[in-house]
Amino acid sequence: MNYPEANAASEDQLIERIRALAPWHHDIALTANLSTGKVFSETGRLLPPENQGVSLISPREKFLRRLGELYPEGMSGRRFLDCACNAGGYCFWARELDVSLAVGFDVRAHWIEQARFVARYRQVAPVDRIEFYELDLYDVPQLGWSPFDLVYFSGIFYHLPDPITGLKIAAALTSDVLVLNTAMDHTGKQDMGLTLSFEGTEPLMSGVHELAWLPNNPETLYAVLRWLGFRDIVLAADQTNPTSRRRRVELYAARQPGRLQSMVAHVEGT
Ligand SMILES: C[S@@+](CC[C@H](N)C(=O)[O-])C[C@H]1O[C@@H](n2cnc3c(N)ncnc32)[C@H](O)[C@@H]1O
Repeated sequence: MNYPEANAASEDQLIERIRALAPWHHDIALTANLSTGKVFSETGRLLPPENQGVSLISPREKFLRRLGELYPEGMSGRRFLDCACNAGGYCFWARELDVSLAVGFDVRAHWIEQARFVARYRQVAPVDRIEFYELDLYDVPQLGWSPFDLVYFSGIFYHLPDPITGLKIAAALTSDVLVLNTAMDHTGKQDMGLTLSFEGTEPLMSGVHELAWLPNNPETLYAVLRWLGFRDIVLAADQTNPTSRRRRVELYAARQPGRLQSMVAHVEGT
């Protein structure tokens, strides 16, 4: 089905514009035959060295499967927030589930320009009730936003000079479930805590404050999430990348005890 509010453009024009907006991190379908990632790779996936230093990922199916477990009754009328939304993939896919509002923000103009381009030309699903903002996470509290049912905090924790304050900002906006996906220190530290790291601010996928912290282990994150008032926490993914030796986890944290029972009990990557 095509959505009439989508702007008309020929396939050649769309491909030209997608190339001009590269590099892309999110593979998002625009039409039945064209997606932002498939212009560069048949699978919609590339490693950073193949894509100007940016991984190209295609996580729609996995994301929708997890949301199906989390909201078996559907997401109609729910509110979704994606912190560090990049090209907005998760907002577009959440909108496919009829959320009443999907809001995404990212500190970089590059990504928000991509998100707005997709919002303009995506024909395969509705694009109303989606909003994008070019914003630093630390500036969000002053905007006075109302809480969201589901808050995504993916790929941002380890790009912040004060990640606890950053996560606290996201938690304050979460009424039901917060998803925390983060890289971790890969050296297997047993002690609870965060390990200092510095990063350049030029790479498009990095933070903008130079100073950053990697959690030592998932237990550190459980403790912080419990302190932030989450009563049910599930580890949904725990993966170590053999080339970079970077470890990455994904945690679901719910306000209500027992809330995450509907999630299928398997940890990806173990
Ligand atoms: C590793 S990418 C993760 C992208 C996306 N959340 C995902 O999981 O696919 C990191 C993203 O965080 C954004 N970012 C970094 N620091 C930020 C900040 N202080 N506020 C908002 N966005 C930030 C970057 O511009 C980039 O899009």
